[in-house]
Amino acid sequence: MEVYAEEVNQVETWNELTLVYNSALKEINTRLEILNDEFQHVHQYNPIEHIKSRLKTPESIVKKLKKYGQESTIENMVEYVNDIAGIRIICSFTNDIYRIAEMLSSQSDIKVIEVKDYIKNPKASGYKSYHMLVTIPIFLSDRIVDTMVEIQIRTVAMDFWASLEHKINYKFEGNIPENLQNELIECAHMVSSLDDRMLSINEEVRKFEAAEAEVEEVK
Ligand code: GTP
Ligand code: MG
Repeated sequence: MEVYAEEVNQVETWNELTLVYNSALKEINTRLEILNDEFQHVHQYNPIEHIKSRLKTPESIVKKLKKYGQESTIENMVEYVNDIAGIRIICSFTNDIYRIAEMLSSQSDIKVIEVKDYIKNPKASGYKSYHMLVTIPIFLSDRIVDTMVEIQIRTVAMDFWASLEHKINYKFEGNIPENLQNELIECAHMVSSLDDRMLSINEEVRKFEAAEAEVEEVK
């Protein structure tokens, strides 16, 4: 009976935990939407292509704790698993990534815990993305819970690469054959060069638009 009571208690806590992490995803999503709308209003373009968010499944959380050699308790989940709530922001251009990261981190109630810039320092696999670990306060009826969210920001091209690499990695259970690894690294270089070129085309177009607007004004 006692074991049962303990289990009920754990389920209660688990439900509360998912509620809080879900709320954190909603909060960040709303803030991103507002930033995107404001950007549209001021600069006539959207820095964000789309946003994906997800809660880690209980199975993956338990698997991660096992990997860390930790027992599967609610406390350990909160303490050791940083990506229970995850948001992926997909942008068109590399400079948008840093703009969005800066706009989010300067919001007064968002605390940046860690930044991993895999764009400046790509992983050996070729993986590129900008990662931020943040906390955001969630206002419950009787308390405020600072809740952790892992944010990944990348371009459409980086996302295309990462999705394929993830699929291949899964298929080969982490041991991708060397020829495919090399191929992926080469594609990662192509992604970077594509991102650079697309960015400079876009800047060219924006300069042209600005010059055009100036002519309009003189008229
Ligand atoms: P994890 O234990 O995997 O969470 O690693 P970490 O806590 O050191 O965090 P890191 O910032 O390195 O990676 C977190 C997440 O980034 C992963 O869960 C993936 O979604 C993504 N990621 C990191 N490295 C790679 C990679 O080489 N390929 C792909 N496709 N995704 C990656
Ligand atoms: Mg992680």
